[in-house]
Amino acid sequence: MKKSELKALIKKMTLKEKLCQLTQENAVMLEKSGGTKITGPSTVTEFNEEEKYALGSVLNFNGIEDAKKIQKQYLERNRNKIPLLFMQDVIHGYKTIYPVNLGLACSFDMQLIEELSAMAAKEAALNGVKVTFSPMLDLVRDARWGRVVESYGEDPFLGCEIAKATVKGFQGDLGKYKIAACLKHFAAYGACEGGREYNTVDMSERTLREYYLPAFKAAVDSGVRLAMPAFNIFDGIPMAANKRLIDGVLKGEWKFDGVVISDYCAYYETIKHGYAKDYKQAAADCLNAGTDIEMVSASLIAAGEELIKDGAIKEKDIDEAVYKVLKLKNDLGLFENPYGDMDEVEEKAFSLSAENRALARKAANESAVLLKNDGILPISEDKVRKVAVIGPLGNTGDILGRWLCLGKYEDSVTVYDGVKNLLEGKEVEYAEGCKSDLFDVDESGFGQAVALAKSSDVVILCLGEDGGDNGEGTSKMNIDLPDVQYKFFDEVRKVNPNTVVVLFTGRPLSVTRLDKNARAILNVWFPGTEGGNSVADLLFGKANPSGKLTMSFPYSVGQCPIYYNHYNTGRPRSDDNKRCPFQSAYIDGPNKPLYPFGYGLSYTEFAYSDLTADKTIIRENEKLTVSVKIKNVGNREGTEIVQLYIKDWFGSTVRPVKELKGFKRVTLKAGEETVVSFEIVNDMLAFYGADLKRKAEPGKFSAFIGTNSDTNDCIDFELV
Ligand code: BGC
Repeated sequence: MKKSELKALIKKMTLKEKLCQLTQENAVMLEKSGGTKITGPSTVTEFNEEEKYALGSVLNFNGIEDAKKIQKQYLERNRNKIPLLFMQDVIHGYKTIYPVNLGLACSFDMQLIEELSAMAAKEAALNGVKVTFSPMLDLVRDARWGRVVESYGEDPFLGCEIAKATVKGFQGDLGKYKIAACLKHFAAYGACEGGREYNTVDMSERTLREYYLPAFKAAVDSGVRLAMPAFNIFDGIPMAANKRLIDGVLKGEWKFDGVVISDYCAYYETIKHGYAKDYKQAAADCLNAGTDIEMVSASLIAAGEELIKDGAIKEKDIDEAVYKVLKLKNDLGLFENPYGDMDEVEEKAFSLSAENRALARKAANESAVLLKNDGILPISEDKVRKVAVIGPLGNTGDILGRWLCLGKYEDSVTVYDGVKNLLEGKEVEYAEGCKSDLFDVDESGFGQAVALAKSSDVVILCLGEDGGDNGEGTSKMNIDLPDVQYKFFDEVRKVNPNTVVVLFTGRPLSVTRLDKNARAILNVWFPGTEGGNSVADLLFGKANPSGKLTMSFPYSVGQCPIYYNHYNTGRPRSDDNKRCPFQSAYIDGPNKPLYPFGYGLSYTEFAYSDLTADKTIIRENEKLTVSVKIKNVGNREGTEIVQLYIKDWFGSTVRPVKELKGFKRVTLKAGEETVVSFEIVNDMLAFYGADLKRKAEPGKFSAFIGTNSDTNDCIDFELV
């Protein structure tokens, strides 16, 4: 349809129909047998038939059959024959589930992330999804917050790169099998106080702009079609009603012209926040702030007509919002074909296909982070006769993480199955030992599992978080393993020293005790559909771990929030191992995390040398190239993620101790060496100074290139 036709259509719509077009409900509202997954509390509402069949969009439905039925019934009753828009949280796969985002980010593989997003888009599109509530671009620093699992970690530079890759993968140019992406949660949701879900956010404009906004801006610059304001308040105002950030920054400064959709019930929650006094004011404030669609609560439908009469909102703003929604539907091709890319035959062939599984397995292999290894890994296949897979995460399909769409446990490969697949013909046995449930202290399974451990050559001990203990609404006070798992670990390693730990988690865990006592820890996050095969690949050396952490693992929960790119203090700590009086230090533990940002081991070793720069002084429009030699000094091929950090020594405001500004994945055979170079340009040195304008300030800088954020090898240069 042309713009003029869309405008003409809006003219034909009644005010009520327009308000409904700006409202989204759970699909179950339209089709009782339909989507039953509800992803939040339901506050509202009784709709009459006319309103129901005028709703603009739905979320949470169960795939192609459901979507077809709902669309058909809807169009039979919708007066204007405007197709319904189906939205869904396609976060890390649709049927083929790949590792949770926090894990996936550790691959530092943008090509892979783009390919996975495209795969998820196609599986979703074939099932009727037209919009995904993804990418989730919240910067995170506090592992107590359960939603860190959905994020890509603590670094703004990496966040920008992933924003670009995901938007490109999901959307392309919205051709066949592409879906519209929605950045979320705008903004600063990840900084909730105390890591407690939905809690207050209070931060300076500088911190917001320097750290929390860049990934959203990168998504907007990449053409993301929708944006979702967060649940939190910012500067005292709930984000759904935050005019300064939505209308001012997102739409004004960044020129975002897509659709803004509230988060689940967020209009209504402005009342609970103590901001709007009733649903009428909530509707007016959110709409006037620049939010177009109200998700799940229905205050706009209830109050819109009266608000226009009162002059609290303008019909022209409603028309403008409706235009955006209809334009999105039009751009997605829904007016020509309301059933979009839905295709049963293709769906069956494509979803969970061997190719998709292979891609998910590659992703799991690249996402895993080897946290510790005394040389016991990789396990040599020839040397083992009997293998014990034990522990609560060892034989469960619940290793997919949350936000599954139609991902099913029964389609996923457990660790036990994966090891059996790889060791065909050998003896592989499983025992659970204990549960992963936070409060289950039952030790009655220890005996059988310990006996199995004793009689085996090697033990693969699968510990970690329960699948349901991360994601939305899962903040924790304690981010270590539950005591029962430690107790179990101690019993097992006592009878069999050849024990390796496979850790499943959706957040950094303060596993200091595990680190001290385990011979090897392979952190596999929640690895997805091919998780078990991937764990087997990694443990037995068919794949060499290369993932690097994108969120610091604290030494203790008391360090949270903890992140590598922090400022210095006037009294920096001089020794992490000693008590340092009158210094910025904890007296009962180190300042440093257990494992820093960028950290991860390999089965081989890489030696860095000869860090050089082609000049020591640069001017505004010049480039400077820094290079380093890197050699694989181990005895097998491996991939290293080479990281560039920059430190700006002095500024009109203080600068972080270092900041990631580049990375490269480099694969080298045993003995092979290469030179890795990075170009440094002026923009990489820019920051928000005292005047809150982003620019580089002249002065001394250092460039660090190394294997993680702890690297000290650097070279100095000056910007004049
Ligand atoms: C979450 C969003 C999600 C929405 C729809 C909310 O509870 O915060 O991330 O997109 O539900 O499922």
